[in-house]
Amino acid sequence: MKITKILIILFLALIGFQSCYYDVEERLYPNSGGCDTTNAALSAKVKPKLTGYCYNCHSASNAASAGAGINLETYTNLKAQVDNGKLLNSINHVSGTSPMPKGVTSKIDACDIAIIEKWVANGAKDN
Ligand code: HEC
Repeated sequence: MKITKILIILFLALIGFQSCYYDVEERLYPNSGGCDTTNAALSAKVKPKLTGYCYNCHSASNAASAGAGINLETYTNLKAQVDNGKLLNSINHVSGTSPMPKGVTSKIDACDIAIIEKWVANGAKDN
C-alpha cells in the first residue's frame, strides 16, 4: 500500500515536471523569429549565401588553390555534398566533418543556416 502511494506521488511529480518543459522557439532557434525561410530556392536564397561565405574557397576558380578541390558552384557538386551529409554537417559544425567556413570558429548566421536547411529539406532542388 505504501509503495503504491509512493509510486503514485512519483508519477504525478514526473508529470508535473514534464509539463514545465516546453519548447520556446526563440530559445531553441535564436534567429528564427525574424527568419524567413519561405521560398528557399537555390538561385534566389541559397547561392547568395554560398557566394558570401564559401566561394572565396569553393568556387570553380578557387577550389583547387583554397577549397581542397571542392567546387560548390555547380549543382552536381553541391548536390553531392548535400547527399553525403557534409554540406549541413560542415555548417552546423558536426564533429567528423570539417567545420565551415574554414578558419572561422563561429558558425554562419543561424537564419542563413535555416535557409540552407530548408532548401535541403525540400529536396535540394536545382531551382
Ligand atoms: C577559407 C577557405 C574556405 C571557406 C571560406 C570555406 N571552406 Fe569548405 N573547405 C575548405 C578546405 C581547405 C576544405 C578541406 C578540409 C579541411 O581542410 O578542413 C574544405 C572542406 C569542405 C567540405 C568537406 C568537409 C569534409 O569534412 O569532408 C565541405 C562540405 C565544405 N568545405 C563546405 C563549405 C561551405 C558550405 C562553406 C561556406 C559556408 C565553406 N566550406 C567555406 C576551405 C574553405
